[in-house]
This record gives sequence, structure tokens and C-alpha cells, in this order.
Amino acid sequence: MLNDRSSILTLLETRRSGKPRELIGPGPSAQELDRILTIAARAPDHGKLHPWRFVTVSDDQRDGLAALLKAALAEENPEASDGHRQKEEEFAHYAGQLVVLVSAPLHDHKIPLWEQELSCGAAGMSLLLAAHALGYIAGWVTGWRAYSKRVRSAFCGPGERIGGFIFIGQAGRELEERPRPALSDVRKAWRPPSL
Ligand SMILES: Cc1cc2nc3c(=O)[nH]c(=O)nc-3n(C[C@H](O)[C@H](O)[C@H](O)COP(=O)(O)O)c2cc1C
Repeated sequence: MLNDRSSILTLLETRRSGKPRELIGPGPSAQELDRILTIAARAPDHGKLHPWRFVTVSDDQRDGLAALLKAALAEENPEASDGHRQKEEEFAHYAGQLVVLVSAPLHDHKIPLWEQELSCGAAGMSLLLAAHALGYIAGWVTGWRAYSKRVRSAFCGPGERIGGFIFIGQAGRELEERPRPALSDVRKAWRPPSL
């Protein structure tokens, strides 16, 4: 069973995202979303810098998001097909609650940028877990949109960037497991170098 919420450990052991395009509504209530984001904001954070933001996009802003994505697409890829434009329209209207995860590091700070970016990733992971713990299914995607200057400036301040678009809803179809690395492929016992 995926996303088995019978205990904390089983949830961690069976966590599985959904594909945003396959989610259905409803997403979390306003109170649940506050809870999810409060949990995400407990991410490990060297220096207490909270170098991340959670930008929420409401349902009535989805048409505006579609217009933004299509304007950005026209800039990035003037040859884009009607099918591609249609895909952006659909992306902007995926079901559930959309949260744009923004990496907002302090540049030229004694805490290295890398550590601040790691903290942003941890916040994203906690956000997913909190959503799943509440019985929702979430999915984290980036794609060209996350790297488009125009889209970035619509969500980020100077020096910030998009870490991902996280949709939180319900599974529209049964989730399937995906291959996971064998522990032996990712676990290494340290061997001290000869000095
Ligand atoms: C930073 C980041 C960006 C991602 N972008 C995409 C994406 O654009 N498209 C996609 O299919 N999966 C993307 N993923 C992967 C999915 O969020 C998801 O982790 C993956 O489908 C595996 O599912 P799981 O979370 O159950 O392991 C991204 C993951 C991360 C951490």
C-alpha cells in the first residue's frame, strides 16, 4: 500500500507522489494548507535564515497563470506548437492547491548558498510529507517554466528562483510504485583515505 498512514514510519516507507496532471480536487482547506506550510517551514535551516517562500496560487488566479505561461512560452520558444500552448493552459488549471516553492537565499552570507538551497529542498520534502500525512496526494514538478525568466520574475524577488510547482489534491487514478534504488547502490561505508 502506498502512502500508508497507519503510522509515521509506514508513511515514510510508502510515500509516493502523484503526477500533478492526474490529480483531482479538492485540495486542502485553508486551515489544512496553513498546517502543511507551517510544517514545511520547520525544515532544517542553518542560520535560521528561512531561505524559501511558499507562494500560493488561488483557483481564481489560474487563468492569469495560464496567460503568464503562454506569454513566457512565446518568448522562450516562438516556434511552440498549439499543442504546447494547450499544455500550458492545462498545467495552469491542474486540480488541487498550487504552491510555488521559491528558493530565497541570502547571497554573500556566511551560510553557503548550497546549504540554503538544501534547506529549500528540505522544505519542499516536508511540504510533500505534510500533505500526504493529511491524506492528500502531492506532486512536485519544475520543467521549462521554473527556468523561464518571465515566470521567475512573476513569483520571485531578485536573487530568488523557483524550486518547483507543488500541486496538492487527490489521486485521480491508483498510484503505482516506481523503481527505488537498492540500498546497496546508495549506501557506502566510509573508507578513510590513507594519509
Ligand atoms: C526539484 C524537483 C523537480 C522535479 N521536477 C519534475 C518534473 O518536472 N517532472 C516530473 O515528472 N517529475 C519531477 N520531479 C519528480 C517528482 O516530483 C517525483 O518525485 C517523482 O515523480 C517520483 O515520485 P516520488 O516522489 O513518489 O518518488 C521533480 C522532483 C524534484 C525534487
